[in-house]
Amino acid sequence: MDIAPRNLALPARVPLADRPLGIWASFRTGQRNLLELIPEIATRQPMVSGRLVKRWHMVMDPGANRRILKEALEHYPKSDVTKLILTPAIGDSLFIAEGAHWHWQRRAAAPAFSVRNVQALAPVMTAAAERAAERIAAGAGGAVNLLDEMVATTFDVISDVTFSGGEAFDRDAVHRAIDAYIAGAARVSLLDIMGAPMWVPRPSRMFSASAMRAMKTMADAAIEHRRGAGRHDVPDLLDLLLEGEDPETRRKMNTAELRDNLLTFIVAGHETTALTLAWSLYLCAFDPGVQDRARREAKAALGDRAATVADLPALTYTRQVVDEALRLYPPAAFLSRTATAHDTLCGREVRPGDTVMLPIYALHRNRVLWSDPDRFDPDRFADPKTIDRFAYLPFGGGPRICIGASFALQEAVIILATLLARFRFAPVPGKEPKPVLILTLRPEGGVWLNVAGE
Ligand code: HEM
Repeated sequence: MDIAPRNLALPARVPLADRPLGIWASFRTGQRNLLELIPEIATRQPMVSGRLVKRWHMVMDPGANRRILKEALEHYPKSDVTKLILTPAIGDSLFIAEGAHWHWQRRAAAPAFSVRNVQALAPVMTAAAERAAERIAAGAGGAVNLLDEMVATTFDVISDVTFSGGEAFDRDAVHRAIDAYIAGAARVSLLDIMGAPMWVPRPSRMFSASAMRAMKTMADAAIEHRRGAGRHDVPDLLDLLLEGEDPETRRKMNTAELRDNLLTFIVAGHETTALTLAWSLYLCAFDPGVQDRARREAKAALGDRAATVADLPALTYTRQVVDEALRLYPPAAFLSRTATAHDTLCGREVRPGDTVMLPIYALHRNRVLWSDPDRFDPDRFADPKTIDRFAYLPFGGGPRICIGASFALQEAVIILATLLARFRFAPVPGKEPKPVLILTLRPEGGVWLNVAGE
């Protein structure tokens, strides 16, 4: 058991459930903060099972995770709730599709995310880091909500690499529509997660349908325009997807498929990367020793300029800070699957129809897998070989691992190093963010930090 004085040295966390909750208590808690539904024993056990509306299992065991995400992938499709929430915005795209329809899209999109192409997109990230630093400099000397700044910065990046060139694409309108959608969809209820039938009324599913329609129309027009105008000198993701084809079937994406996938990249890649950066900055402010070490590294590599892709090999400690932020506050903190076949996980029976959840937040804080797991310690990642692949899943794992993982990590390190080289961040007393899991793991109230120029 932690004793009080040591708790003070731990970064923000929430108490997990210390007793089983009944259905209505679960329902109310789930609407407020899904993290509070995770039983505390999930940080000590490999698997916890129960029954609410349906039989459910939470899995925190690397071997079982490997089975769900890789070896028996076809028996664990994404849960209906994932599809329910996301289909209205992003159709049957890469994130949602299953089986052959997923496979051909993944094969067609993979080249766009090759190391070479992701590196070629780095100047967009460097430019966005520079603009972020300029905005933050204007607020230096006072408290700044770094979450808002990072949301603006990562939106800059993702819109520049999807629909760059401005062709008939109103970025602000798209940003508003996506934020409204995420806010509405985030109110996903526990009933959805546990798989209650569709006719059970959900109090709060309110999609912003007209904004969504307008956004799709605009995206389609931008895609058609690009087809006619031809690709940029440095191709962006739209150019690369337009050229992409499934090497097995030669199938190419039509306009609706291109649009759904580009909107998927925006929805899946924008807020998650902003959260990674906001939590990283919070942790740097929380531990000035780590911040100083990362700043020394960044200054030595960059001097006064913004980071570029060529600096990445010299920014290894900054990368460790990002890795550790993704462990403590994984933006996608809860993955959910529906079992379609009989199986055994950790010696326990899984039946078709069971909900199988991977509470990544609890996996990353499981005492069997991590020493002193609530402590912030980027040195855990000094040698990545020591980390069990399926004990650390900020990007999921197996064939459906996040296609944008290296894109996101490259972006996060470029932006974080640029900011640390130029500013000092300190906590604002009384403004500790609370981790709240609704759709993603967010710092409730934002990440307010006092910013001073270097
Ligand atoms: C730090 C930022 C990010 C985090 C934490 C993150 C996390 C994840 C996770 C956990 C999954 C797997 C979900 C599951 O198995 O249920 C996933 C899938 C996916 N992500 Fe990311 N993601 C990030 C950034 C991005 C970016 C930048 C893009 C695109 C530009 C992106 C596009 C996708 C897509 C398309 C999938 C579905 C892949 C498939 O099923 O084949 N993500 N992401």
